[in-house]
Amino acid sequence: MRLKDKAALVTGATAGLGQSIAEAFAREGAAVLVTGRDAARGEAVVEGIRSSGGRARFRRLDVTAEEEVEAAVAATVDEWGRLDVVVNNAGYYGPASMRPLAELPVAEWDRVIQVNLRGPFLVCRAAIPAMIRQGGGAIVSIASIRAIHCSHNLPAYTASKAALIQMTKSIALDYGAQNIRANAILPGVHDTPGGQQSYTDREEYLRRIASLTPLGRIGHPSGIAYAAVFLASDEAAYITGATLVVDGGRIAGEYRPHRSGPSTRRA
Ligand SMILES: NC(=O)c1ccc[n+]([C@@H]2O[C@H](COP(=O)([O-])OP(=O)(O)OC[C@H]3O[C@@H](n4cnc5c(N)ncnc54)[C@H](O)[C@@H]3O)[C@@H](O)[C@H]2O)c1
Repeated sequence: MRLKDKAALVTGATAGLGQSIAEAFAREGAAVLVTGRDAARGEAVVEGIRSSGGRARFRRLDVTAEEEVEAAVAATVDEWGRLDVVVNNAGYYGPASMRPLAELPVAEWDRVIQVNLRGPFLVCRAAIPAMIRQGGGAIVSIASIRAIHCSHNLPAYTASKAALIQMTKSIALDYGAQNIRANAILPGVHDTPGGQQSYTDREEYLRRIASLTPLGRIGHPSGIAYAAVFLASDEAAYITGATLVVDGGRIAGEYRPHRSGPSTRRA
């Protein structure tokens, strides 16, 4: 019960990493506002949490809509009397945004920035006053290894996630005195519906990811959920402005699978 008596709001929690985070938070004792755009999937997540004895409610939320964000924060406080944790998980990239900069439609740039940067900005802007009123809180933002380790054909996504890290650090500086902590998790590739959209063949996708990763496998969403539980909990009471890479070693260095194992190099 590492989040006992805490109330949390998780964005984009109807599937993928957000669902896993919401479920882990509830298992650790938090009351969770599961938010997202798909009510049927959101209610199913809530039902799953409740049937395991957890506390949760669903609320429809598009993170780019200022009024919806403010209403969701107010609903959390109304329902549970507090808001201790927000997780900025909702994110977007798609086939139309996976191309070099000069070929990127302006509308697609705007969409990525709206969801990945304006969304967390609006959520934090609404949540911080409530956290200040109750004496503190924790913000966990899901960025990406692509924020610090670029890849081809993702100019808007990488820029949005890099900016999310700096926004996180900015909050850590400005609100540390009010006992608000802000940290970012940088996932490598994890097995979610959104993760494999550039591949049609799942087996090929999994083989490719494994071959690029020192731990030799794709990440399970629970690994991000456990990282989020830690950063949201009082165990991380002195951690703020930090980035936590969870990537199976993917960006630790230049990985060459055929070179791993005992060295055959001459002394
Ligand atoms: N899965 C990975 O390999 C991976 C790697 C690095 C970073 N991430 C980040 O982790 C987060 C979750 O990713 P995921 O893999 O579960 O992706 P996903 O695409 O499966 O889930 C993203 C969620 O965000 C929601 N969303 C999109 N636009 C929204 C909006 N305007 N308002 C509210 N919700 C919205 C989607 O509906 C979806 O539920 C994202 O921020 C993503 O960028 C994921």
